[in-house]
Amino acid sequence: MTLDLHDYVASIPDYPEKGVLFRDISPLMADGEAYHQATDQIVQFARDKGVEMIVGPEARGFIVGCPVAFELGVGFAPARKKGKLPRETVKAEYSLEYGKSALYMHKDAIKPGQKVLVTDDLLATGGTISATIDLVEQLGGIVVGCAFIIELKDLHGRDKIKGYDMLSLMEY
Ligand code: PRP
Ligand code: ADE
Repeated sequence: MTLDLHDYVASIPDYPEKGVLFRDISPLMADGEAYHQATDQIVQFARDKGVEMIVGPEARGFIVGCPVAFELGVGFAPARKKGKLPRETVKAEYSLEYGKSALYMHKDAIKPGQKVLVTDDLLATGGTISATIDLVEQLGGIVVGCAFIIELKDLHGRDKIKGYDMLSLMEY
């Protein structure tokens, strides 16, 4: 039976600040069947792309990307926030729906020419995913797709990643 994944998203008004309707995937992660279904849908999207590596931004991109990497039998590389990676890094700055930030990856996280799928829980303004793509490309990786559990249509993040194959499992 296919689950309606919308039933596993909690919507919290005015979090983390007034005017933001926060879409929380914790209930989805807490349900083994729903988490597996979401993972499988992304794995199907990735299957014929020759994906060699998954990259996900801290922190919720790890939750989505790691089980996909495991199912595909490929590696996972994290894009992390400031001060978390101990060796030489590349950096990309970005703006968020609620703030500004930067992401970093280890310089040897991706081999030049590697085919990469970028994953995150949610696409809002597209700042985070654009920075993650930027990091992969700085390292010579080829982004063959981007996959999200949720897309917030009103924030038009999709416009920032035109030209990349994209999957979102749910739209709000
Ligand atoms: C959230 C979410 C996405 C990003 C989407 O992460 O998990 O990564 O925002 O927003 P954007 O499309 O406008 O960039 P957040 O930065 O809140 O970090 P967290 O995963 O550590 O909570
Ligand atoms: N990240 C950016 N905007 C968000 C939202 N509205 N809900 C959950 N995560 C987010």
